[in-house]
Amino acid sequence: MEAAPAVTLFSDREIQKLRASMLTWYREVRRDLPWRRTNDPYAIWISEVMLQQTRVETVRGYYERFLGRFPTVEALAAAPIDEVLSQWSGLGYYARARSLHRAAAMIVEEHGGALPADPKALAALPGFGPYTVAAVGSIAFGLDLPAVDGNVARVFTRWTCREGDPRDAKALAHFRRLGQTLLPSGDAADWNQALMELGASLCSPGNPACLGCPAAFACRAHLAGRERELPPRRKAKERPILHLAAALIRRGDEILLARRPDSGLFASLWELPAVELAGDASPREQLARWLARASDAAIVAENPASEVVQTLTHRELALTVYDVELRRDAALRIAEPYVDARFVDPEGPLPGGLSSVTRKALSGSLR
Ligand code: ADE
Repeated sequence: MEAAPAVTLFSDREIQKLRASMLTWYREVRRDLPWRRTNDPYAIWISEVMLQQTRVETVRGYYERFLGRFPTVEALAAAPIDEVLSQWSGLGYYARARSLHRAAAMIVEEHGGALPADPKALAALPGFGPYTVAAVGSIAFGLDLPAVDGNVARVFTRWTCREGDPRDAKALAHFRRLGQTLLPSGDAADWNQALMELGASLCSPGNPACLGCPAAFACRAHLAGRERELPPRRKAKERPILHLAAALIRRGDEILLARRPDSGLFASLWELPAVELAGDASPREQLARWLARASDAAIVAENPASEVVQTLTHRELALTVYDVELRRDAALRIAEPYVDARFVDPEGPLPGGLSSVTRKALSGSLR
């Protein structure tokens, strides 16, 4: 037997009241978002994957464009990965796009092109962890599954006054059990979105607005005056800095982009060819050495064209971009780690996905 969840904290009456209060509140405040106007499971799935690490306002535009380009599971499955990554460019966490693409192929092959309305079958698809299974299962199919993401974990931490990190595996398992008990059967879609909405609005990390909160009457942290202490703030992460020197190689209006291999950091994305810096030699010198090995190109500029920084989940990137001239009639050999290279007009259609750091480098360097 599993240990009894902390849900015994709430009486049956409280639970009934919480459900009614949350659902009423959500139905009053719910925003008119494009994915709330559809009941197409495919569209709902796309929205949930995009929303996992990205803000609602950013997702709106990407969502519409993505569905315009890939209106069905079949269209997504049939598209080359480069096109999928190109539509994803700038959203970050590109593994999400690669999983979407692989899952679309499986849905076509194994489910006739329709997302399965079954939690086990959903969980067998690439990219479907417990949150995605529950979010898609409840919103698209009305399944009674509790969707617990980081925001919902914060809400539950406050409701139950739970100490410790709400994002560790034990806490998430605990909150899923709590979520299952609280969930009003038949209303999982609105209930889950009410929790997400509360976490994204009133129940914010630093400054919870308990005065307007539909759950304040039951919230143990609020009742104890501890809503600002819980959950404990995470320590700022120490991120190692990865220093890179990148080459802006021009040919007329075109610039050279190189494609990364299909695994590792920025897998399959296109970028300015760059070398990771190590040791004491200057970035310019290290780039020059690498270019001499990798191509018939030579640095012309003494000074960098631009410097760009980008914070990722586990590290920081610091990219120094140099203008580089390709010698006339030079045979272009682009070396490891790149698997392809192409001159493209940066104003025109791009060959595939570009990472945000590449976009920044281009907008900072092209004049
Ligand atoms: N975050 C995750 N899923 C969401 C949804 N369906 N609506 C708004 N924000 C969300």
